[in-house]
Amino acid sequence: MDGQGNSSEGHEVAAELRHRLAASPSDRLGDAVRLIMDHAFQVIATLRPSPVELDAFVQFLTDVGYATDARRQEWVLLADVFGLTDGVFSGDRAASSGITPSTLPGPFYRADAPVLPLGADLCRDGTGESISVSGQVMDADRVPLAGARVEVWHANGAGRYENQDPDNQPEHNLRGCFTADAHGRFHFRTIRPGGYALPDDGPVGQLARRLGLSLDRPAHIHFAVTAPGHRRLVTAIFDGADPAIARDALFAVKPALIADFGPRSLTVSLVLDRESVPQPSKTEG
Ligand SMILES: [Fe+2]
Repeated sequence: MDGQGNSSEGHEVAAELRHRLAASPSDRLGDAVRLIMDHAFQVIATLRPSPVELDAFVQFLTDVGYATDARRQEWVLLADVFGLTDGVFSGDRAASSGITPSTLPGPFYRADAPVLPLGADLCRDGTGESISVSGQVMDADRVPLAGARVEVWHANGAGRYENQDPDNQPEHNLRGCFTADAHGRFHFRTIRPGGYALPDDGPVGQLARRLGLSLDRPAHIHFAVTAPGHRRLVTAIFDGADPAIARDALFAVKPALIADFGPRSLTVSLVLDRESVPQPSKTEG
């Protein structure tokens, strides 16, 4: 291989691979591989990479693998900073339907947030600028969803979550789980969250920096809402006054998710989609 192979050879290889893959199962995996490889061969045909450049690409993938361990998922970060994760999480709902858009839950969610009474304060260390948050859970017809379960979690004023900052924050700081009242309403006190930046000390952060991609995440509060008969909603409400609001590293900010955090209060509406009822198969009658 001389690395400068003519493009007709590339086309032949692409065609031969397509031919071989045509015999592979026509399932989601087969479909994904065919599509991805078609695009990969387009890149080769267009850019004509040299063997040195191919080595650099392989080295990058190797570095991403080495940067991944039990505490850090560099592969997920790679998908995140190119918008692939958001594309999966937010791509399955029509924004025009009035349903609150989904966002990726992020790595700091804990399923064991303490169950708290309405009006409780999420702040366990007395640090930060106090705000009150109130909201209502509804369906797409604006019917309140009484008794909805509302999980909340967010970073502190310095942009750190308690489970990434165990030496400085009490366990379960700025987390709670509430049950909405008969009108789907909930309220609690907490502190104003700060924005944060994704890590730039690994291969993905360095690539993002080199490409001029933002690593900033504007301040936000995460919500996960469940109600019987409805799809679980995982989303976040972003502070519209954050200077990074237009350049979220993870592409999760949608107009419907931007709120005015106000001097002391924030009001949110969370609209859930109905659970789709499985249709009985015709063959099963
Ligand atoms: Fe977050």
